[in-house]
Amino acid sequence: MNVPGATGEGQLERQSAWLAEHWSWLLDTRVLPSLPQNPSALDVGSGPGIVAASLSSRMDITCMDIDHDAVARCRSRGLRAVHGDAHLLPFEDRSFDVAYCSFVLLWLRDPERALREMLRTSRHAVLLLAEPDHGGRIDHPDALRPLRQMIVDGLRGEGAEPLMGRRLRALCSSCGVDAEIGIHPGSWDMRRMRSEAEGEWDWIERTAVEGASHLRDEWASALAAGTLFTHSPIFYALIMK
Ligand SMILES: C[S@@+](CC[C@H](N)C(=O)[O-])C[C@H]1O[C@@H](n2cnc3c(N)ncnc32)[C@H](O)[C@@H]1O
Repeated sequence: MNVPGATGEGQLERQSAWLAEHWSWLLDTRVLPSLPQNPSALDVGSGPGIVAASLSSRMDITCMDIDHDAVARCRSRGLRAVHGDAHLLPFEDRSFDVAYCSFVLLWLRDPERALREMLRTSRHAVLLLAEPDHGGRIDHPDALRPLRQMIVDGLRGEGAEPLMGRRLRALCSSCGVDAEIGIHPGSWDMRRMRSEAEGEWDWIERTAVEGASHLRDEWASALAAGTLFTHSPIFYALIMK
């Protein structure tokens, strides 16, 4: 089965490492104080459970994914996991304190329907923890600027919405809910950039529509010179019911 959004674990691990600290802060300051102890949570489109594993000390999480392999990976990590489609969640109304997702809405045929399903199955909160906006991508030095459009076009070619981040406000409004919309902060140091650069470049080459291989040398020399900088804004939305 060709699953939209099936993404290598290396990329998911990197994304989660960038964001885990801010997710924890958002949960601890905005969400958990008004919820029962150890709230139940549904992770919609959980993938192999990397995000759920990082949040499992705060919530009692059930993972769910349309991809059977992802469900098996979650279980191999000791997580509770079920198979299901975000467009028609296999749960009764108000089954969980929290429903959340990360890096999923951009891949869905009908993200509004998925958000309505998360609103239906949650009692207290819906968290759209991370949706990127590749149209806001920054690459430095200038020679790397074409990467932004290549990635946007490449993701569209795979059926994704690469500008999902900026659409979160409209998506929430169309479902009749208000949300705190924000952008995750970032911080960069050369050690991390160097350790992540190879995996990042592999993702770019796999994603960019025309193939970005002719820019590989620019990327490598900027990395070696310590001038490389890349960033794509990643948005979140917190909906308290
Ligand atoms: C980019 S991955 C993100 C995985 C995980 N949320 C994370 O952030 O590490 C997108 C996930 O969404 C899942 N997915 C795609 N369409 C889905 C659907 N209709 N219902 C449930 N899961 C879906 C894919 O199988 C994949 O595991």
